[in-house]
Amino acid sequence: MKRIFSGVQPSGNLHLGNYLGAIRNFVRLQDGYECVYCVVDLHAITVWQDPAELARNTRECAATFLAAGIDPERSVIFNQSRVAAHARLAWIFNCVARLGWLNRMTQFKEKAGKQRENASVGLYVYPSLMAADILAYKATHVPVGEDQKQHLELTRDIAQKFNHDFGIEFFPLIEPLIFGEATRVMSLRDGAAKMSKSDGSEASRINLTDDADSIAHKIRRARTDPEPLPHSPDGLAGRAEAANLVGIFAALADRTAEDVLAEFGGRGFADFKPALSELAVAVLSPIAAELRRLMADPGYVDSVLAAGAERAAAIADPVLDEVHEIVGLAAR
Ligand code: AMP
Ligand code: TRP
Repeated sequence: MKRIFSGVQPSGNLHLGNYLGAIRNFVRLQDGYECVYCVVDLHAITVWQDPAELARNTRECAATFLAAGIDPERSVIFNQSRVAAHARLAWIFNCVARLGWLNRMTQFKEKAGKQRENASVGLYVYPSLMAADILAYKATHVPVGEDQKQHLELTRDIAQKFNHDFGIEFFPLIEPLIFGEATRVMSLRDGAAKMSKSDGSEASRINLTDDADSIAHKIRRARTDPEPLPHSPDGLAGRAEAANLVGIFAALADRTAEDVLAEFGGRGFADFKPALSELAVAVLSPIAAELRRLMADPGYVDSVLAAGAERAAAIADPVLDEVHEIVGLAAR
């Protein structure tokens, strides 16, 4: 059986990268797979979160799933801290994963930066919790953006070592699903930096809550170069900002970069940016409107999360029971 699992951190500022790299794919995968989508609040607290903001962001992240088209009847939508199996399995995985494996994680190095001694222990073992999220459901396929690839390789390593250590084929080896024309959306201000929730510059990202005017304003101000667009994707080499905008256009239009350049090749950004703005507004405005509507009805969103958590626990708890038995731990 195929089962999808993925998660998004409720750390505020969900943006176009989250949408094109992950959430839009979550929506599409509902046709054909059983899907479990999680707001990973336990991951969010690996760096400081204001408690009131965290609660609000958790609801907003769930509301964004709904607004983007995830159907709470077909798919399971819930937040991680409601289902105890995540933290419990993560502890067991902390005893399976090796220090050397975690030491190689580039996201930890980036997030901890020069303050490594002062990073939380949770930030360091973050990938064990992510493996637990996925494997508590025995998920087989995990849609994510490009930046999560290394964490998914670690998930495979943990599953493999667990199976090997206990001499049992228990956990599946997951397949990453990284697809679409924009698996790594870059900052609008710097083609070398990923579009991210935590970038200090609001102009660097298009938030999913942005209105039409701010979307247009940010695209107008997006950094580019003075050359016209090339006629094929080869011509984008060494032009990170141009490549990023073409990738965003292609993804939003559901076209290939090649096809977009067949239309816009030879034309300058003065032509391309207004077309991109119009397209971005057409795709994102209905989502922002639905998100606003849902945020005005917090009772509904919370009821979706509560019902989702029950369905999630019904899958994860029996898996945890089996793990306890395999490892020789007491029955829950
Ligand atoms: P996060 O915001 O780190 O919780 O990420 C949630 C999902 O969005 C993950 O699948 C990420 O890989 C994806 N994602 C985050 N930033 C980007 C980006 N700039 N481009 C493409 N995907 C992204
Ligand atoms: N680490 C992921 C991110 O920051 C979020 C995440 C947590 C996740 N658990 C997961 C993604 C399980 C996929 C599967 O983007």
